[in-house]
Amino acid sequence: MKKNEIISTTEKFVYEQLHDDASGHDWWHIHRVTNIAKNIAAKEKADIFLCEMAALLHDIADEKLNISEEEGINKVRDFLLSINVDEEYISKIMEIITTMSFKGGGQPPMKTLEGMIVQDADRLDAMGAIGIARTFAYSGSKNQLIYHPDIKPVEKLDPEQYRKRKSTAINHFYEKLFKLKDLMNTEMGKKMAESRHQYMKDYIETFFNEWELE
Ligand code: ADP
Ligand code: NI
Repeated sequence: MKKNEIISTTEKFVYEQLHDDASGHDWWHIHRVTNIAKNIAAKEKADIFLCEMAALLHDIADEKLNISEEEGINKVRDFLLSINVDEEYISKIMEIITTMSFKGGGQPPMKTLEGMIVQDADRLDAMGAIGIARTFAYSGSKNQLIYHPDIKPVEKLDPEQYRKRKSTAINHFYEKLFKLKDLMNTEMGKKMAESRHQYMKDYIETFFNEWELE
């Protein structure tokens, strides 16, 4: 298969899996992340095909969408083998998608430029106006409250507990979203993160002004 055929077959595979997900991982999240990744990859002179493939597949193996993380990883590998992607590319793609999540609070750093790019793209889609929308959508899907004055954000999250614990949507800004700006890997990622970060800051300020009737 040619590269453009591999991409379009992968798009169809991912769309089938994610089109009706309501927890913030729907097809359009994948589409946006892929677009951002391709843009940064062009600027950084990175391997655009690798960035595009890893971005398309980055949430398919997510433990939230599979019985186990291992099952999800096997699903992606089996798919890539079934369409005869080069072994070398398969291992590069798998390396990126298995190491890029925020669970470890950004540690350890990504090993390759392409990994850094896809990680930046995924993080950018968790920020700004779209990031705010995704946070409330995800929170609702987990039956979390919008805000509760007695439920405080925690400073350091145990990666194991990160997804299991019940918090609030507003806490998520402090626990993750406000940290993302300083975790960006690429110059373009850093630049794009600035305005998205500021927009979230302004949003939270207005939220609390309304809450306090100021
Ligand atoms: P991704 O890897 O695509 O960023 P995540 O699974 O980490 O996806 O999260 C999906 C979306 O839900 C993101 O926008 C993220 O910021 C948000 N989110 C993740 N965990 C929480 C949480 N505990 N409370 C509220 N929003 C969350
Ligand atoms: Ni994602």
